[in-house]
Amino acid sequence: MNYIDIHAAILEWYRRHGRHDLPWRQTRDPYRIYVSEIMLQQTQVKTVLERFYHPFLERFPTLSHLAAAPLQEVLHAWQGLGYYRRARYLHETARLAAPTLPTDPEKLVKLPGIGQSTAHAVAVFATDAALPILDANVRRILHRFFALEKATPKALWQTAWRLLDRQNPYDYNQAMMDIGAAVCLPRSPLCHACPLRSGCRGQKAPERYPAPRPAKKRPTRRTRYLVVEKEGKILMRKREGEMLGGLWELPSQESEPEGTRLFEIVHDYTHFRRIAEVWRVERCDIEGVWIEVAKLNTLPTSSLEKKIFARLLEPDAYGALVGGEPLGVSQ
Ligand code: ADE
Repeated sequence: MNYIDIHAAILEWYRRHGRHDLPWRQTRDPYRIYVSEIMLQQTQVKTVLERFYHPFLERFPTLSHLAAAPLQEVLHAWQGLGYYRRARYLHETARLAAPTLPTDPEKLVKLPGIGQSTAHAVAVFATDAALPILDANVRRILHRFFALEKATPKALWQTAWRLLDRQNPYDYNQAMMDIGAAVCLPRSPLCHACPLRSGCRGQKAPERYPAPRPAKKRPTRRTRYLVVEKEGKILMRKREGEMLGGLWELPSQESEPEGTRLFEIVHDYTHFRRIAEVWRVERCDIEGVWIEVAKLNTLPTSSLEKKIFARLLEPDAYGALVGGEPLGVSQ
């Protein structure tokens, strides 16, 4: 089958409806494209655009700036984006590749945190390389277009190569992402408005493709977070290791401590759910660093800690339990 008509329809759709003004579509700088792709891996365009992309690039305008910065600063700029492993890989990649990010996909995939699709995205958007991209949105389009309920990654890549518009890889790939985000929606897709409809084999029952996955049951872990306060300071410690390494957290334990249970927060990670019970205790044996309450918000912390602090710093709710004064007021 040849896809000349569909390619033409995709280009025309992109010309009329594409998000041409996204800042990472206004540059050929592989570093700026790379930063956008990493941020967009797990975060919505709107959030990246409004809160993270520009401040990050102002703080780290080139790969060399990023390489020269301490990891702490990179994590700090990443606060709120979640999935902090991305920030650590970004930093590691900068250290390995500075001053210039390669645009050859074979070199890119060897760098930490850069998979095949991200490598292709950088190569396509920086140099017009004729390569397909396979992110979650594009995957859904391919499942539907080829009426595939299930497909191995290898089979999906084959379909991605088949459909690729080799004459216009830049516009084609950007268009596919926009079509995935705005037309080929997970539920109730707008097939009447889709430029791929003339060849789409899944449009009679788009919700069958891909076959819905059974809801995944996350294992649950219950953890007790300890709030120990002394003269306006709170005991904190810095995490080490792969998950959330480099971020600051409250001391915690599995068992129930002696003290007052303040509240609990349910927090979902990719592979498990954490039930965080927050306890006010007089002392604990865990080693840490005393941090002034007023400085808590300046430390790089995960979003769970931010949720906990937000609750603790509410003047009327639990704050009064800490040192007899609301936390943050007794400075
Ligand atoms: N998600 C990943 N890459 C993207 C891009 N270039 N534009 C919009 N969304 C994206």
